[in-house]
Amino acid sequence: MSTHNDPVDHADPVVLAYSGGLDTSVAIGWIRERTGRDVVAVAVDVGQGGEDLEVIRRRALDCGAVRAYVVDAREEFASDYCMPALKANALYEGAYPLVSALSRPLIAKHLVATARQIGSSTVAHGCTGKGNDQVRFEVSITSIAPELQCLSPVRDLALTRDVAIDYAVAHRLPIETTRHNPFSIDQNVWGRAVETGFLEDLWNAPTKDVYVYTDDPAYPPVPDELIITFDTGVPVAIDSEGVTPLEAVQELNRRAGAQGVGRIDVVEDRLVGIKSREVYEAPGAVALIEAHRALEALTLERLQRRFKRHVEQTWAELVYEAQWYSPLKESLDAFVEDTQRYVSGEVRLVLHGGRATATGWRSPVGLYDFNLATYDTGDTFDQSSSRGFIDIYGLQSRLVAARAAREGQAGTTQDDAAPVS
Ligand code: ARG
Repeated sequence: MSTHNDPVDHADPVVLAYSGGLDTSVAIGWIRERTGRDVVAVAVDVGQGGEDLEVIRRRALDCGAVRAYVVDAREEFASDYCMPALKANALYEGAYPLVSALSRPLIAKHLVATARQIGSSTVAHGCTGKGNDQVRFEVSITSIAPELQCLSPVRDLALTRDVAIDYAVAHRLPIETTRHNPFSIDQNVWGRAVETGFLEDLWNAPTKDVYVYTDDPAYPPVPDELIITFDTGVPVAIDSEGVTPLEAVQELNRRAGAQGVGRIDVVEDRLVGIKSREVYEAPGAVALIEAHRALEALTLERLQRRFKRHVEQTWAELVYEAQWYSPLKESLDAFVEDTQRYVSGEVRLVLHGGRATATGWRSPVGLYDFNLATYDTGDTFDQSSSRGFIDIYGLQSRLVAARAAREGQAGTTQDDAAPVS
């Protein structure tokens, strides 16, 4: 219930995350019919492309929303959500760059802002009851505004796809209806997620029409070489041209996408226990992570770099599992941020045939020392001190081998290989 002293329902409208698509367009009228409450639509632009925001805003009103707001959150999404993911080289299950998982906490934040502004007690979203996104929306909302209620018309008010189509036709809603929309798609500037349809049969390979952000890597144009400049973990220039985080992602989506970089086809473990087939395209994200990792190899101290791998995995799992606003995620952010102090410099990247490959590294704060590494003249590494180093480093190995000999055990692979009598 609302904590505001609003006596009538229409003073406590439901704030709906509105995409402009069929389900959320129908949800406007459906919520009103089922709950008697008005709906205020909020459309958040996270770089999903497609329709103009003003067109979406007008459609929400045409579908019966009492008010409709649009938020251009593209810069905010790129800077405050994609860049932390880049600094964490975040790939869920080693593959998925968290496209949808990153946008939900941001959309939730804007829903909460609107709800508070207009004194609403309830926010609604168009997610089903089977996926991760419902959890991300609702856990994000409850983390920042525990006083708010959440409503999922699809899950809680039986708004199935067929019901939605019938409703849209019956009410002549200004939205395209088709019963054979083959995929469920979520996209933003960090990438694109495609699921359902014929992909649910795991043996079916994706067809050409699945892909939008990437061209076929089997028929690539000539290799594309570029230089990305990073400052403390964030791309600030491409080929010496200054870029914002959003521009960096957009530019790499274009150039890496043209080379078919960032196609990902996986069986993924959802938070709700279901395994699902997911096809992703994230050319910009994959190319940026490749370059960022390459620069970290040069600039991070060895133990810090090794430990960061564990943090990266946990960070990705937390964000996937709806913990964007959790204390642990915040603590890990602080660690990751601290590691980025010297992640500045340039990486040369070659994009070609589905791959983004680092082919050059330079940094004023790197830990690579040519004179230590070289085998040519100029070598300053004192090889004679390696002898003493190995004596001490190998001490335990020597003790273990001596014990094995004493106890008559096979202690080495050489013993294992000896013929058995
Ligand atoms: N499986 C991905 C995730 O959980 C993608 C979800 C995409 N959402 C959608 N409505 N198609 O992050």
